[in-house]
Amino acid sequence: MSHLKGRDLKGILDVNRDEIELILDVAKELKREQKIGRPHRLLEGKSLGGIFETPSTRTSISFETAMTHLGGHMIWLDSSRLWVGDAAEEDWRDTVKTMDRYLDGIAYRVGASRERLDKAAEYAEIPMINASCPMEHPCQAFADLLTMREKKGDTKGAKVAFMWGYRDANPPAGLTNSLMMMAGTMGFDISVACPEGYEPHPDYMKAAMARAEKSGGKVEVVRDYESAAKDADFINVYSWVSPEVWAKGVENHFQADPVFQAEKLKLKDKWCVDQKVVNMAKDDVMVMHPMPIARNQEVTNEVLDSDKCIIYDVAENRLHTEKAILALLLGGYR
Ligand code: CP
Repeated sequence: MSHLKGRDLKGILDVNRDEIELILDVAKELKREQKIGRPHRLLEGKSLGGIFETPSTRTSISFETAMTHLGGHMIWLDSSRLWVGDAAEEDWRDTVKTMDRYLDGIAYRVGASRERLDKAAEYAEIPMINASCPMEHPCQAFADLLTMREKKGDTKGAKVAFMWGYRDANPPAGLTNSLMMMAGTMGFDISVACPEGYEPHPDYMKAAMARAEKSGGKVEVVRDYESAAKDADFINVYSWVSPEVWAKGVENHFQADPVFQAEKLKLKDKWCVDQKVVNMAKDDVMVMHPMPIARNQEVTNEVLDSDKCIIYDVAENRLHTEKAILALLLGGYR
């Protein structure tokens, strides 16, 4: 029986190298089974709660599809279904402790507050999976790594240029922190290129660097695309803001602070990944993005529509990696 059974996955901070390898191995196996049409109903009769406090295309659909393929089902839970929100706030512990009596696991996309995820994990006995929060997006980091390995084999020593790109409406920094942790743990290099004020969280920087010392990976922050792109095997574009800025935006129905927006607008011309930036990397570089993308803002259509772009392969791998996470944590995989 896997020792991941019954565990939470709040972030890449929670898992070690062997556990990451196990999840990737199971993802590969389940992907192969799906491709040859062999059923893998490892979670027959099990129920996953999918709590989504903000919109989601990939995460929500891939988790729901994953549960269907595994023989279980996902129940979509948002503020229209639960006693949460301004009108009728049930104490969070009562909501979660009740769900704990019905469900076999929860995939939770958090809005403004990471604390709500930590509290939910504390109140529930069943596994709590972080489906993106302001600090981590572990499921996306798993899909990124599986895709990188499929494209280039072993990623040890490979280099990811993780590029901040300008966009009008920004997502939180979770993937930045999670992919740095993944690089530090698994021994690939990540060079985060971002303007001042958009740095990854210092605690995650520190933790990722500490893990990199053991794995042989490298984690750095640079201030220009050229330094990050040099010798890069992958360019991964993302456009994050700090947890504080993100939280303010969520609370204000995704309307960012006008002063912050005006300052950010000054970055627009410099921080867009175009073909010139792609040409700074290795000849066979591949371009990734977690999606949703603001086309022609953070990355140009020319790059996105070129044969170097692998965004849909990454999106597909959200399904296979989440199936592995669910099968291992909810106890269907032996
Ligand atoms: N990448 C990602 O998490 O996409 P969604 O926000 O659409 O779920």
